[in-house]
Amino acid sequence: MPRNTRSAATRRTAARAATALALVVATGGGMAASAVGDPTALRPARPAVDKGTEQRISALLAKMTLPEKLQQLQLLSDGQITEVDAKAGVGSVFSLVDPVKINAIQHVAVEQSRLHIPILFAYDTIHGYRTVFPVPLGAASSFDPAVAKADATFGARESAAVGIKQAYSPMLDVSRDPRWGRIVEGGGEDPFLNAAMGVARVQGAQGTDYSQPDKVASSIKHFVAYGQPEGGRDYNTTDMSIARLRNVYLPPFKAAVEAGAATVMCSFNAINGNPGCGDAQTETQILKNEWGFDGFVESDYTALDEMRACPPVQPDTGPCGHGVVADGPGAAARALNSGTDSEMVSTNIRDYGARLVANGRVPIGRVDDAVRRILRVKFRAGLFEHPYVDVSKAESAQLLPDAVAAARTAGSRSMVLLKNDKGLLPLDPARKTAVIGPLADDQHDMLGPWWGQGQDTDAVSVLTGIKAQSPAATYAQACPIADVDPPAATPLDVCGSTAGFDAAVATAQAADQVVLVLGESRGMTGEAESRSDISLPGKQQELIDRVKATGKPFVVVLMNGRPLTLPDVAASSPAILEAWFPGVQAGNSVADVLFGKVNPGGKLPVSFPQNVGQVPIYYAHEPTGRPCDVTQKYDSRYRDLTTCDPLYAFGYGLSYTTFDISDLEVSSPTVATTGKVTVTVDVRNTGARTGDEVVQLYLHDPVASLTQPVRRLRGFERVTLAPGQSKKVSFTLGPQDFGYYDNAGTFVVEPGRIDLFAGNSSQATLASSVTLR
Ligand code: NOJ
Repeated sequence: MPRNTRSAATRRTAARAATALALVVATGGGMAASAVGDPTALRPARPAVDKGTEQRISALLAKMTLPEKLQQLQLLSDGQITEVDAKAGVGSVFSLVDPVKINAIQHVAVEQSRLHIPILFAYDTIHGYRTVFPVPLGAASSFDPAVAKADATFGARESAAVGIKQAYSPMLDVSRDPRWGRIVEGGGEDPFLNAAMGVARVQGAQGTDYSQPDKVASSIKHFVAYGQPEGGRDYNTTDMSIARLRNVYLPPFKAAVEAGAATVMCSFNAINGNPGCGDAQTETQILKNEWGFDGFVESDYTALDEMRACPPVQPDTGPCGHGVVADGPGAAARALNSGTDSEMVSTNIRDYGARLVANGRVPIGRVDDAVRRILRVKFRAGLFEHPYVDVSKAESAQLLPDAVAAARTAGSRSMVLLKNDKGLLPLDPARKTAVIGPLADDQHDMLGPWWGQGQDTDAVSVLTGIKAQSPAATYAQACPIADVDPPAATPLDVCGSTAGFDAAVATAQAADQVVLVLGESRGMTGEAESRSDISLPGKQQELIDRVKATGKPFVVVLMNGRPLTLPDVAASSPAILEAWFPGVQAGNSVADVLFGKVNPGGKLPVSFPQNVGQVPIYYAHEPTGRPCDVTQKYDSRYRDLTTCDPLYAFGYGLSYTTFDISDLEVSSPTVATTGKVTVTVDVRNTGARTGDEVVQLYLHDPVASLTQPVRRLRGFERVTLAPGQSKKVSFTLGPQDFGYYDNAGTFVVEPGRIDLFAGNSSQATLASSVTLR
């Protein structure tokens, strides 16, 4: 981390008065057409409450019996739904993907239920439905919201074509713990980047009107702070200050709500002692009251059951654990009264709601409000007008050429060039290329976790993609990687044997250049896939060493869903390309980058630690009185590490060309705490190839009433420049950038100096400042 911030902090002595601002803009920021960071771009896409719709809802509500209302609050899985539920007026169904079955159930609901209310069908369209795009952490590496938007746009089109009208996406969980397997599903460690990507995904999925036949309602998840479980273990407890919750974990949700996100999913884990689906402060006070969210909140899978103490009581089956309520009725009451509107899989609200209303534990007004929210989303989704899907068009909408082409572009734009000694890359396709490694001729893992309805056979392996551009390419697997979950998994499953290494070495020796395709299986990442050791699994490092010993030039292409600890890989390999799980066009996207059709321009959305013991390590950490200095004893260091830095920092990534970023200018040296300034830099391509640079703007408040991050990203823009070409990039900063939330939950902007840093990573050195009056 930059050390100059410490001295900057001691230089600033101005007396400061806290100014509380009732800001209506998103503190997470969002994306503008030209540069990210302009909150005016976050105009809500949701139409203002429509009186006609509200009247139709009121009319329906007036006719509904209490059991019918409680049915609306029930969300069942594909394995649970029956015609009996549909006839009784169940609210929503998820994971049903056969359009014929969807229509059949919908016909029962619309034609045979007493009030003819259509069902909302939902699905986890996370990074594509059939056309699988790069995993979201990869898409975040593009630093290009258009990549995330394209993914969500095609995902919505394909999902809606089978009758799905709600996607459980985007995941907006900021995460600073790469042990957590679900870090792959989000935008990484930074709230500003997560917000920009999340807004783009909501806009892509919903458009300006999600009743359109190719649009779906977004469900933003997991509300909230699910990304920071203790120890990196999925579903584990989260405990944090209000300031941190509001400054780091809530902003992406706020930005997405401002952008019109229709629905929200509350999280499994406990936040400061309150399970996410039983937390009135975040669900009701912040989301609904403060932010004005008027859609509905659904629970995560059996999250209500899980609130119960163990062993489970009423019913005496199902999950339990948090122990904030004794039984099912308690769970239903806690969830409803906290602001959860819909229950996924478990059935406590439906089963015990009438009793809870009768004995006064849940006001009928709360039940009516929850029903109103669900009906509002159904009306906005156009379900009352168009409840059925055109089955004849469902299949022909999948995997269309425009979607596949967009996935290929997204794949290459999401890759990050970590190392490229002596310009080893791009490779010459005319030379003989050996493609080696457990993931080299793999289709299955390319799709990553949450592959939707993607098929392994849709995916282009790296070998196939390379052969398309370098037909003489040869192949050796060296060792297999199997997608097997513990406890069935054995050490042999993930490159556990060196038996194939001799053949791989022979293949390398017979070639001019080697592409080593290494990493994790897709099943090692995603939900419930935390790892305590985040190094390259199995004997893959040994394979690198064997290939290195041949003396052939080689590049390591990494496929993984989390930051890995790569010091040995970095020390032994001349070139490293972080490809994540690139999706259905994986091999073509990789080949485009390796052979230089595409010049890589992605940047890391999350720090890569040297060692898992450094976790959590993130660029926006707060300063301490004894900042890390490995030469000093009484400092915040690890005695067994020779550096305080990660191996690769947030925002870092190379290109086949070089750039110069200069002339950081601020429109005014001083500004009112309520005012705005424009910050401009020049970026110039100083190399010989056309390429992309991501210009990044960070700020730091050196003297604040609460310790402030040493840097915070507040603007970025990915630009493409020809050799010698330059461009001015501007960012607008205002109070929403300068200020922060305190532990009372108040947003404050304090007068005094704000330091600014611009460059091409979180370690940017170009500096300036502006003084707030
Ligand atoms: C549990 C996961 O936490 C959530 O992200 C997902 O949307 C639901 N299951 C439904 O599949």
